[in-house]
Amino acid sequence: MNTKYRRAIIGGNWKMNLLPSEIKAYVKKLLPNLPPTRDCEVIICPSFISLGQTISALRGTGVAVAAQNVSEFPSGAYTGEVSAPQLSDIGATHVIVGHSERRIYFGEKDLTVNRKVLTVLEHGMRPIVCIGESGAIRDAGAAEELVSFQLKTALHGVAPQKMRRVAIAYEPVWAIGTGKTATAQQAGDMCAMIRTSIRKIYGARIARSVSILYGGSMNGDNAPELLAQPDIDGGLIGGASLKVEDFCRIISAAIEESAKIYKE
Ligand code: PGA
Repeated sequence: MNTKYRRAIIGGNWKMNLLPSEIKAYVKKLLPNLPPTRDCEVIICPSFISLGQTISALRGTGVAVAAQNVSEFPSGAYTGEVSAPQLSDIGATHVIVGHSERRIYFGEKDLTVNRKVLTVLEHGMRPIVCIGESGAIRDAGAAEELVSFQLKTALHGVAPQKMRRVAIAYEPVWAIGTGKTATAQQAGDMCAMIRTSIRKIYGARIARSVSILYGGSMNGDNAPELLAQPDIDGGLIGGASLKVEDFCRIISAAIEESAKIYKE
């Protein structure tokens, strides 16, 4: 992590977990345990149905709320979809875009991901763009090539002045929900490659300001080692974010890591 140039971000992706009636209890438990978030942006990502309630419950606490998905269209006859203007109207500040579960189970393609990134930015929110290879692609030695393609396609048409509002999440599919975390070296190397790719498109100044997160079975135990990698600026946490203690341990690890830069 290098917080001299960029902010640490820890996002809790609840996926399709927690009932709307369980949100109040989660927030009640989270707030007294939450480390001071000045040095780390904390984002909670509930299901659409709990977004409004979560936003109200966290208002004024410094914790941001993200949607897990968005329609690529701004409005119209798209039954079952939720648009970027609707999300921004309700007070969501971030949107996860292109999560591998959307790509795998709902057929989301790279070009759709790109359109979603553009619409999120256009409506004043910040996309957390997920990219990452499957185990088969890694075994075939094509992980970097795929991740770099996913990155470039997702960012196509994103103006340089908007890049500061984009966060990238490197989430190797083989590590998501499997308990099989990437080693700090594997994750750190890929995040460094991602930053190099951003540098080639947008230049060094913008590349060093973009937060790159790791996601895939991150927990309170492995977070310190992963976050110590110079190009890993935070995490997108699935399973462990459902447990308040574990989630807060990860946030503390990010705060501790970001404090190091000031001591250097
Ligand atoms: P996990 O999920 O932490 O449960 O592996 C991460 C993610 O999918 O964002």
